[in-house]
Amino acid sequence: MKLRTSLVLGLLAIAAFSAGCGGAGGGSKSGKAEFVIGEYGSLTGSDATFGQSTKMGVELAMQELTANKGGKVGDLDVRAVVEDDQGKPEEAATVVQKLINQDQVAAVIGEVASSRSLAAAPICQGAGVPMVSPSSTNPKVTEVGDYIFRMCFIDPFQGTVMAKFAATNLNLKKVAILKDVKSDYSVGLAQYFTEAFKAAGGSIVAEAAYSAGDQDFSGQLTKIKAANPEAIFVPGYYTEVGLIARTAKQLGINAPLLGGDGWESDQLIQIGGDALNGAYYSNHFAVDNPEPRLQDFLKKFKAKFQKDPDAIAGLAYDAANVIFDCAQKLHDTDPTTFAGLSSAKAGTPERKAACAKLRDLISQTKDYAGVTGVITLDAKRNASKPAVVLEIKGGKKVYNTTINP
Ligand code: PHE
Repeated sequence: MKLRTSLVLGLLAIAAFSAGCGGAGGGSKSGKAEFVIGEYGSLTGSDATFGQSTKMGVELAMQELTANKGGKVGDLDVRAVVEDDQGKPEEAATVVQKLINQDQVAAVIGEVASSRSLAAAPICQGAGVPMVSPSSTNPKVTEVGDYIFRMCFIDPFQGTVMAKFAATNLNLKKVAILKDVKSDYSVGLAQYFTEAFKAAGGSIVAEAAYSAGDQDFSGQLTKIKAANPEAIFVPGYYTEVGLIARTAKQLGINAPLLGGDGWESDQLIQIGGDALNGAYYSNHFAVDNPEPRLQDFLKKFKAKFQKDPDAIAGLAYDAANVIFDCAQKLHDTDPTTFAGLSSAKAGTPERKAACAKLRDLISQTKDYAGVTGVITLDAKRNASKPAVVLEIKGGKKVYNTTINP
């Protein structure tokens, strides 16, 4: 018994020792020194296109890195580890812990939804691992700390864009709001829209709430209909928005729906159908923008995935490339510190120092020519970029206007 116990303990010790070595090897699958990046998103769940689009954007960036630079940054092979958080904030925190502790990633891409970025950002901040959200727009995300960045504009701007569009371009005075109370994004965007719309002389004639995952919106929309609004602002995600549009139509509501970037998914129109015609939403890009960098990206994306990218794919592609560029810059200017990004240095002071330098370089991102526009990060690690307003017409998203910050 005694002997068996010590044998088991001995085996455990060996297992722990080799896990430690594996750890020091940074989970290096090839046995070679690597620069491992992590990516987390909703590959499943009610907003699964968010995570899937992120993944496709990063895959295209990786494919180009392979074609142009042998898949390397400096002398390190780049590898991306992807985790599904199922669209749940708790799960986002869990998988990011795993990316950092087990896969020992040196940078993280994600999330799309602000509530999930907010759940995982403190973990990245605490570990000193830079996190770049492609598309979370709630201001609180980057306020978590100096290791947290985003490639997009924030909601005080986005809310103002749609409020001005409603007041000026559509000449509306009375708008109702239907928001997702479980989403930091939705609650924040509703508030920013309200402030800006009132400042523009409009009034909010009704307010109603739902929670992500709800299927029945007839109660809320009946109440809204009674207030007779000229439009309904729905700052939610595409699945609920599609269902809301259908219910509004069934209830005989003719006021158009207005929304934000959370509508951006090829599933939106599949779910909402022609009930969405006449609706408008703000977004990060329009595929009918002739800008050459964007068109080139669309062509490459279509060739790889046989469909148009959505804005998330573009932002994730930019996020991956900004990380690769900054890591390459670190290699070119300070190869000694750069070596700390290697999987072989996981958990060492060299790794910490390398991640800190990588963080510094990301924070200096200036005039980066992304496919979603020119990216300059401000002192709060947010990008100041124009927004576009798209109109849904005949089941298609059509560019309407660009609004500058
Ligand atoms: N901006 C949204 C959020 O912060 C996420 C999103 C971005 C959704 C872009 C779709 C497109 O939650």
